[in-house]
Amino acid sequence: MEQTAVEIKQGAQTREPMLRVHQLVKRFGGLTAVNKVDFEVYPGEVVGLVGDNAAGKSTLIKCISGVHQPDEGEIFFQGQRVRFSRPMEARDAHIETIYQDLALAGNLNVGANIFMGREPQKSYLGGLIKVLDEGFMLAESQKIMGRLGIHIPDFSQQIETLSGGQRQAVAIARAVYWKAQLMIMDEPTNNLGVVEQRQVLELVQELRQQNVPVILISHTLPDIFAVTDRIVVMHRGHKVTEKKTSETDSQEIVQYMVGALDDRRDSYL
Ligand SMILES: Nc1ncnc2c1ncn2[C@@H]1O[C@H](COP(=O)(O)OP(=O)(O)OP(=O)(O)O)[C@@H](O)[C@H]1O
Ligand SMILES: [Mg+2]
Repeated sequence: MEQTAVEIKQGAQTREPMLRVHQLVKRFGGLTAVNKVDFEVYPGEVVGLVGDNAAGKSTLIKCISGVHQPDEGEIFFQGQRVRFSRPMEARDAHIETIYQDLALAGNLNVGANIFMGREPQKSYLGGLIKVLDEGFMLAESQKIMGRLGIHIPDFSQQIETLSGGQRQAVAIARAVYWKAQLMIMDEPTNNLGVVEQRQVLELVQELRQQNVPVILISHTLPDIFAVTDRIVVMHRGHKVTEKKTSETDSQEIVQYMVGALDDRRDSYL
């Protein structure tokens, strides 16, 4: 049967990547931490980004999230070329990142963290006096945490008194609340207990169900295999392969991680 123009366009749209990184290079002095990396993420896809220590994973995602500015290459998000000079610009474009060194404020409570940098205000006397709308922040935080099935006993608790898993959950809730169109998670299950790790992975599945793509960095290959659709492996700044998760196994991925296999090199053999 012949396709109509609209159907063809819709088909093309579903194949359009949400994020496209093209020939990205980031150097620190004489060290090339990310070397001509191409990388795409499609809507609703969970992509695992793996590699040994110092492979360049965190540097790559920091280029996407506006922490670093790439030296070469281009980043396209939702079809537009983007150049973020600060993390807040990436967040305004709905790219939410949970960093390895978690970016929550320990001395603030859950609501204040969810609204950090975007605090709602109440106006009095025709706008002459503005105060933080703490009631709104609390109600909205309780709503989003409830929707995600995250239990926090006391919302007035400071973040530093929560467990690692609860903190990760707050960071994920913040991203969902602000309607992340791309979620980047750098080692989100590091230092977590078994139950908390499972909760974080369940939240990743939840994001996928909401069609939010996720880039997940982890050294824990069982986690990567449990939740990803595709795996990208970096080694010494290069992307050495990418595989559908269903078409590989951890033995093969480890071979790429340690540099024993490399699609760029193998293609020249
Ligand atoms: N701000 C920086 N200044 C100088 N060098 C840096 C900086 N950030 C990272 N590097 C270097 O870039 C390389 C890649 O580091 P990166 O943090 O991206 O690795 P990674 O793959 O995330 O490793 P890990 O799994 O240990 O987190 C390393 O050699 C690191 O020392
Ligand atoms: Mg890292």
